[in-house]
Amino acid sequence: MGRGSGFGKVILFGEHFVVYGAPGIVSAINLTADAEVKRTGDEITIKDERRGTKGYTQKKREQQKESIQRMLNAMGINSKRAPLEIVLGGNLPSFSGVGASAASSVAIARAIADELGMKFTDERTNEVAYEAEKAYAGTPSGIDNSAATYGGLIWFRKSLSGGPNAIEEIRVKQPIEIVIGNTRVVADTKEMVAGVAERRRKSPERYNRIFDQAEWLVLEAKKALTDFDLEKVGRLMSQNQDLLQEIGVSCKELDYLINLAQEYGALGAKLTGGGGGGCMVALTPGKKLQEVIATAMEKAGFNVLRAKIGT
Ligand code: PMV
Repeated sequence: MGRGSGFGKVILFGEHFVVYGAPGIVSAINLTADAEVKRTGDEITIKDERRGTKGYTQKKREQQKESIQRMLNAMGINSKRAPLEIVLGGNLPSFSGVGASAASSVAIARAIADELGMKFTDERTNEVAYEAEKAYAGTPSGIDNSAATYGGLIWFRKSLSGGPNAIEEIRVKQPIEIVIGNTRVVADTKEMVAGVAERRRKSPERYNRIFDQAEWLVLEAKKALTDFDLEKVGRLMSQNQDLLQEIGVSCKELDYLINLAQEYGALGAKLTGGGGGGCMVALTPGKKLQEVIATAMEKAGFNVLRAKIGT
């Protein structure tokens, strides 16, 4: 049996803008999707045992099948000659926005390579998982699969010329507590990315202005993280949320959780990932603040994850 894992993640800065070559900052979280793969039977079967938002597995089923076919093609495997039984699990819940799809693709790619005795570097795993991301995100930037493959706190910039993407580790003085709140709305990243492309096409000047601000903000955020100026990181996260609202990817459930986090003292809060539902992230340094905010969200009836960035 072959085994593999991939990290969950939160995008702290720059989702959507990264698709167009702006930089982004993403952190892996301490939860993984795990896959087991066995060469058996006479066709590919997928058993998804992950727990998560109601309806997630069904809604993503077709995209998941396409993603696996894309990975097999990228790995040069003929699925008719190599029937595989794939079982997906792990402690990363299948919520939209925490990289559940990218983490599962990395886990599956690693498990298939392991089962078939293929020696896979992280770079190769990342390339294969990027192919899978096309099924979920349409025109992915590559930020999700990079975080799922390498882990850590990462500065990411997609290469628009087809060369390698820029990936750089950001070091922080100590890990920082965050709260991830799940709206329980299953979001479709592909639709959200396509929606931004469409609106950008209709109002290029307005969008160019917003994109310039997004780029500036991420540069400031990188410096603030390195300086461990958490008040500033939080402020910049909230400004990032304003830009995400302007490009039409927030929703009332996300806005509600973001306001709640801010009311209870989060240093900053924003949606994370594709938006339109899915998750938000609040910067809550210290166990005490993290607990206050996580509890407030739970009392309001939402599922939360208590996690850390920069571990
Ligand atoms: O919805 P998620 O968690 O898969 O995040 C997608 C991030 C986007 O920037 C919207 C798309 C991308 O490929 O970068």
